Amino acid sequence: MTSLWLDSPRDQVSDEFVDGATYDDVVVGAGLTGLVTALLLARAGKKVAVLESRFIGAVATGNTSAKLSLLQGIQLQKIKRHTYQAITQAYVDGNRAAQEWLLEYLESRDVPVQFRDAISYAGTPEGTETVEREFRVARSVGLDVKLRAELDVPFATFGAVVLANQAQFDPVQVLEALAADVRELGGVIVEGARVTGVTAGPRSQPARVRTAAGELFAKHVLLTTGTPILDRGLYFAKLKPLRSYVTSYAVPGVIPEAMYLSVDSPSRSLRTAPSGDGKHASEQLLVGGNGHPVGRASSTQARVDDLQEWTERYFPGARLTHSWSAQDYETPHGVPFVGYLPRGRGAIYLATGYDKWGMTNAVSASLTLVSDIYGGSPDWATALHHRATLPAAMGAGLGNGAAVGWWAAKGWAGALLGPRVDALPRPAERQGLIGRAGILPVGVSTVNSASCAVSGVCPHLGGVLTWNDAETSWDCPLHGSRFSATGELLEGPATRDLAQK
Ligand SMILES: Cc1cc2nc3c(=O)[nH]c(=O)nc-3n(C[C@H](O)[C@H](O)[C@H](O)COP(=O)(O)OP(=O)(O)OC[C@H]3O[C@@H](n4cnc5c(N)ncnc54)[C@H](O)[C@@H]3O)c2cc1C
Ligand code: FES
Repeated sequence: MTSLWLDSPRDQVSDEFVDGATYDDVVVGAGLTGLVTALLLARAGKKVAVLESRFIGAVATGNTSAKLSLLQGIQLQKIKRHTYQAITQAYVDGNRAAQEWLLEYLESRDVPVQFRDAISYAGTPEGTETVEREFRVARSVGLDVKLRAELDVPFATFGAVVLANQAQFDPVQVLEALAADVRELGGVIVEGARVTGVTAGPRSQPARVRTAAGELFAKHVLLTTGTPILDRGLYFAKLKPLRSYVTSYAVPGVIPEAMYLSVDSPSRSLRTAPSGDGKHASEQLLVGGNGHPVGRASSTQARVDDLQEWTERYFPGARLTHSWSAQDYETPHGVPFVGYLPRGRGAIYLATGYDKWGMTNAVSASLTLVSDIYGGSPDWATALHHRATLPAAMGAGLGNGAAVGWWAAKGWAGALLGPRVDALPRPAERQGLIGRAGILPVGVSTVNSASCAVSGVCPHLGGVLTWNDAETSWDCPLHGSRFSATGELLEGPATRDLAQK
């Protein structure tokens, strides 16, 4: 499953890893957070290295829907319910600063941006009240939103809240511009360099960053890895990994132009994307949705098929060009975790938990991290740091913890009571099964006619993996690590591949 954005040849090549080199700052992860952070540091005259385990944009940013909006579905009422008004205001102020920063940057670099209305709509009569609530909260934090009773779209809607003049873009074009600028200012970006550990030294000693290729040293290490790869601070336990699907289509006739997001179930996210140029310029339609906690869906392919059926129903003649998937991490209160890592001796920082609103939140996290380290924190960042956890957010966190416990028990019970691996039938094409060798779960799959057996146990904290048939991967239902059919780590808090069996 390759996204529309990643489906073109890349012209940048990785820099060299220099074993034992020392930097002011090492940024781990080359998504939007990592590259904006690296650019801010390089602009401040710091010697910076970015280490990326796969390639630039490989994980969430290269597979996003890339709407850059301050109206974010029902995010504002969620934050308001779990925190309080001042935090909701600080969240919007931080997102506004981020949106302005990114738009100004993209204009300076001639990266194409399309300005569109952002629309949160009710897809059911029950959703109307949710729309009205979002309107009230958005107004209370200064967003110039409007209510609209009807939309000019071919599917049923029951009221909508609209914020004019938001933006959308191709996220890979954004990453390419950022990477080129980081390099122009002397920064290095090394792809294929997975960080396996970071040790903060005693005061005034540099932190040590470990990879398979060797070690680097830095005054500060910034973990911009989606979910943090270090378990200190137990962030993996506070985050809910949610996977979601995007499909793109060539559509005959007119496509609605705005950026739409349903506030209720089934979730639907729509936007357009320019394709072709000159005489052949046209617009593609992107339709996303059908999200679920990572590793906990019985058939992920059924969710992709459902998106396609829905689109073909409402946009007759739509021809699927791409389908892809990605995950992001939800915090109990809807506000990202950004700042220093506990027990990191002030040398290790993290940013995570954007809840599918990373185009703004990645940039506000970068602005926060750099000001945390080098000074000049804006008021909104200070307010977000002093956020208190309210009972509603604690309840959400406890619910997530209970679900993780249940999936841990279910996975091991299923494997221990299930068939021995040598008694399993050969899985059908694009399918995977869990068996056991002794008491240890083993995952067996068939992809492109090749059978493969790998450990069925996640190397992070021992979750039993489940099969993802849309992406032919092994996914962990506990904290969201994912592995290819042959065991290579794709994403998540794990730092090791699966053992071959
Ligand atoms: C389906 C979907 C649609 C979305 N749509 C929108 C949208 O319309 N608007 C919006 O604002 N947001 C959207 N988001 C959210 C947004 O895409 C993400 O929040 C954002 O891209 C996260 O950026 P990031 O840099 O933090 O993470 P990533 O882009 O995931 O980057 C993290 C990088 O760290 C690397 N890494 C991980 N571990 C290591 C390691 N050990 N060593 C070295 N490197 C490592 C990874 O390979 C990866 O490249 C969407 C998310 C999803 C899932
Ligand atoms: S990701 Fe934590 S146990 Fe798998």
